[in-house]
Amino acid sequence: MNVYDSEVLKGILSQKGYSIASKPEEASLIIVNTCSVREHAETRAIGRLNELSRYKLENPDVKLAVIGCMAQRLGERFLKEVPALDLVLGTEELFKLPDYLEKKGKNPTVALSFSELRKFDSLPQRKNKFSSFVAISRGCENFCSYCIVPYVRGPEKNRKVSEIIREVQCLTESGCKEVILIGQNVNSYKDNGCDFADLLKEVSKTNIQRIRFMTSHPKDLSQKLINAMSDLEKVCEHLHLPLQSGSDKILEKMNRKYNSSDYLRLVDSVRNKVEDLSLTTDLIVGFPGEKEEDFQKTLQMVQRIEFDSAFMFKYSPREGTQAFLFEDDVPNGVKLERLQTLIELQKKNAQKKNKNLIGKTEEVLIDGKSKRDKASWKGKGRRNKTVIIPKGENDISLLGEIIKVKITSADSFTLFGGIEKDKCSDKNLINM
Ligand code: 5AD
Ligand code: SF4
Repeated sequence: MNVYDSEVLKGILSQKGYSIASKPEEASLIIVNTCSVREHAETRAIGRLNELSRYKLENPDVKLAVIGCMAQRLGERFLKEVPALDLVLGTEELFKLPDYLEKKGKNPTVALSFSELRKFDSLPQRKNKFSSFVAISRGCENFCSYCIVPYVRGPEKNRKVSEIIREVQCLTESGCKEVILIGQNVNSYKDNGCDFADLLKEVSKTNIQRIRFMTSHPKDLSQKLINAMSDLEKVCEHLHLPLQSGSDKILEKMNRKYNSSDYLRLVDSVRNKVEDLSLTTDLIVGFPGEKEEDFQKTLQMVQRIEFDSAFMFKYSPREGTQAFLFEDDVPNGVKLERLQTLIELQKKNAQKKNKNLIGKTEEVLIDGKSKRDKASWKGKGRRNKTVIIPKGENDISLLGEIIKVKITSADSFTLFGGIEKDKCSDKNLINM
């Protein structure tokens, strides 16, 4: 969501005549968009802002802004952490940044209102991207006990179907091939009797070629949505379904509203309907009260389900959340050990899953050159896995193409393969 907000703000600023500076010393305006989900992210943001403050000290005309969740959470308090700040704009006020810049005055601006939500429909379109985020909702009201999001992003607000379709159409016209529909919990989307499964159907009718979505809360994953995933060809075979913990006791304390059996049933239903589904998840270790036996239950679930990949986190107490009131009783060393054990297990599972794809064909949307090897193209398969393809003898640009790739090798994070000559989606590529 932060990446999306940054893209939208970039669009708003470019309409006002701003362009991106190639380095901070050339910038007249420096903006840091922030995350509050874990303390580590906040510590890094403060460090980065204080480091960037020197450009303002060198040139007092430079403006320094902090936006997003952490700005929303700290408000005025941010000015104590980073005295050079000119603007502190919360998660909804950030879209009005150009208006605040025009305001004269010496004092820094702090704006945190939720009521002035800029209408989604006036957001400028983003160009030249082959894969684009499209927010279908903002905010969250699930109040998982560890999570700061409902406090910094406010209650859930759903965007109109017609506006979402309009944005998808605009993106398609500018060359976009894939949209990623995002929301804190896309499964609870509602607009005038239209739910998320209906929305997927509508988006499928546009000229967009691939559709992804995230994040899904297990408590709202309906059979209707599972059916839509299986019926709609454009919807990719990937589901991000955060489990958080394998222990029912911890899930209850987390206020997740499902237990491990519910989760397993869902996994079975989706895997039965969606062939070769890639299933990914989020997991937290060291939540208050997590005993060794609870952690073992998480390991058992991970072993049994075999996720394709997982984001794994050490619990980080967040002031203002319900869990902040619980005693953070798992020592940091134990949290780290558990995290390491979990990462090792997940890595082994991911490697096994990826190796199973050797010899199979993935449909890959090429989005650039490989960072590791500049001579190779990289892209995402339908199952959200990164695929690396060595550049052929022919130096044709594959950027933005959707091509069929035969997987020849794999590690825990990446697939490697070559273009299937007879299966290129674009006639120009057949000579490769
Ligand atoms: N500590 C650790 N991880 C957290 N997450 C959210 N809040 C916290 C926290 N306080 C994780 C959850 C969520 C992901 C986006 O971040 O796993 O799904
Ligand atoms: Fe946070 Fe839970 Fe909402 Fe996700 S569903 S944003 S974890 S409160």
